[in-house]
Amino acid sequence: MDAAPTHEYTWDGPAGPFSIHLEEGVFVPSSTSRELANGLIINPGEDVIDVGSGSGVLSFVAARLGAARVYGTEVNERAVACAQRNAEALGLADRVEFRLGSLFEPLEGVTADVVIGDVSGIPDEIAAMSGWFPGGFSGGPTGAEVPVAMLEAARVHLRPGGRLYLPTGSIQDEGAVLRAARAIFGEGRIRQLRERLFPLPGKVAEAAVVRRLMDSGVVSLIRKGSRLLWQLRVWECTAPPA
Ligand SMILES: C[S@@+](CC[C@H](N)C(=O)[O-])C[C@H]1O[C@@H](n2cnc3c(N)ncnc32)[C@H](O)[C@@H]1O
Repeated sequence: MDAAPTHEYTWDGPAGPFSIHLEEGVFVPSSTSRELANGLIINPGEDVIDVGSGSGVLSFVAARLGAARVYGTEVNERAVACAQRNAEALGLADRVEFRLGSLFEPLEGVTADVVIGDVSGIPDEIAAMSGWFPGGFSGGPTGAEVPVAMLEAARVHLRPGGRLYLPTGSIQDEGAVLRAARAIFGEGRIRQLRERLFPLPGKVAEAAVVRRLMDSGVVSLIRKGSRLLWQLRVWECTAPPA
């Protein structure tokens, strides 16, 4: 695939700084990417799967933290091509590869010590009006559908004792995602690592769809003065030992 117009983006979070090229039509690393990276533990030599890898930014964080091998998967063809070019530019292409396809579909038979589960989790209607998900690869009607499908498919790819890092937010049906995580991993195997509040941009906060999803209880936002805040949480889900 030909490269689209790009701009340089400098990641100054964990394992940074490093620069990548972001192409038009590819997800721009967000405050969620950064908080997830802040909670991420990668032990040297571990293998990692990064589901919903976008530009590849969290795959590169994992590699720079010492992962032996990193597999990113993406449904956005433009993102896969962009991430692969970034891996080559960073000199990481021998350890990091990106595959096109949904969730774990392109990874049949592949297992890992760590899954980074930063797949889209914003309700489709909010994603469409915010422009946060170029190409429209968002999280489903309530923002829980894609993350829940990811959790359900993750277990066979996670080695015994392996860890899955999961962001959840009050801007999705967070309860549905956490119920699925508890059912799949078990109550005692889910640990909250981080929690942050972020303001919603005015355009999003004022949108009728956000009001409707709040009224129906799908999203749960906090009013502070004239601003609406959403809460991000990062979780570590641990697979049982062998
Ligand atoms: C919130 S973005 C995170 C991207 C990247 N991890 C980052 O931090 O910048 C979620 C990504 O998941 C991708 N995605 C959505 N549905 C997917 C699916 N079913 N399988 C794989 N990737 C998916 C989107 O295209 C998007 O790039």
